[in-house]
Amino acid sequence: MSNEAILNILKNVKYPGFSRDLVSFGLVQEAKLEDSTAKVVLELSTSDLTLPKSIKESAEKALLASSEIDRAEVTVRVKKQPDTSGNDSKPKSENLVGIKRIIAVASGKGGVGKSTLSVNLACSLARMNSHNGQPNKVGLMDCDLYGPSVPLLMGISEKPEIVAENTLAPVESYGVKSISMGLLIDEESPVVWRGPMIMKTIQQFAHNVVWGELDYLLIDLPPGTGDAQLSLAQILPLDGVLIVTTPQKAAVDVARRGARMFEKVNVPILGVVENMSFLKDEQTGERNYLFGQGGGASTAHALKCPFMGEIPLHEEVRLGGDHGTPVVVTNPKNCSSMEISRVAEKVTRLWM
Ligand SMILES: Nc1ncnc2c1ncn2[C@@H]1O[C@H](COP(=O)(O)OP(=O)(O)O)[C@@H](O)[C@H]1O
Ligand SMILES: [Mg+2]
Repeated sequence: MSNEAILNILKNVKYPGFSRDLVSFGLVQEAKLEDSTAKVVLELSTSDLTLPKSIKESAEKALLASSEIDRAEVTVRVKKQPDTSGNDSKPKSENLVGIKRIIAVASGKGGVGKSTLSVNLACSLARMNSHNGQPNKVGLMDCDLYGPSVPLLMGISEKPEIVAENTLAPVESYGVKSISMGLLIDEESPVVWRGPMIMKTIQQFAHNVVWGELDYLLIDLPPGTGDAQLSLAQILPLDGVLIVTTPQKAAVDVARRGARMFEKVNVPILGVVENMSFLKDEQTGERNYLFGQGGGASTAHALKCPFMGEIPLHEEVRLGGDHGTPVVVTNPKNCSSMEISRVAEKVTRLWM
């Protein structure tokens, strides 16, 4: 029996409370068979102390069901939780149970329009009907803790309501339920976030927000490929990630590197969206490719994933951001809005 076969068994073991399995969550550090003993090392970060035991038991049970395995030694290592502030709240994964699809929006580089696209995609999805003929129920989680921009882009200034101890209700605007660190901190106070704080906050966002039923939860990730993204991929049962890039060569390389990180933790790459693709001359319709051409398509090709679309540059996109009035809502006929809606439609079709 090969190590591969052991992995295949673990692929059938679900992470408690989630529909994803241990392998796709990226928990497996080691998996081998020695003299008909399966030796598996799993590593997870959690503050729920019952979780390692229940994962160990279900993994061992699955392994022992194989006729070629006589003994199973499953070691579950718990990565130290960076936060030990005491008043610990267990991850309440039940708050995620009503969510059909969780999609992260990522980019290697900042300033490529990731937040702008997250917000407009969320609004666009909320304007489309789901199977039942009702508008999609959409949530938006701003995980860019250093530079939260969802409140500004969504025109939200009210604080989220605290509905129970450690539990927040998202704030609704344009038919989208949003939560952002920017809604919780004082705008005046400088935020000095340290790694542990970020992890803790993301966990709380993931588990302590009452989303209710959602068709889609979009996650605006911080730029880059660091700890925050990796831990998110572990904490949240992501259905996949959309990679945002610009046409520039430099952005493309970074986007690819970022995407590889998700591949490593087995989060599917749903597609690449190119933003700031060109500027259209209003009179002649001629396209000016300010930042070069073909970056998004070649990234998609390299990552073997769909190319979802090219979003043109348009002043109304920026103005919509500055005023907290997303362009897909205020002017759905704008050329950028139409392209964003097309991307949103492609997203909905990924699971049809
Ligand atoms: N298609 C676009 N047309 C015009 N301006 C855009 C477009 N996309 C983004 N912008 C502007 O670019 C800036 C950076 O966008 P933002 O979404 O904050 O990037 P990121 O989240 O990747 O850092 C913002 O001022 C935004 O309004
Ligand atoms: Mg941003």
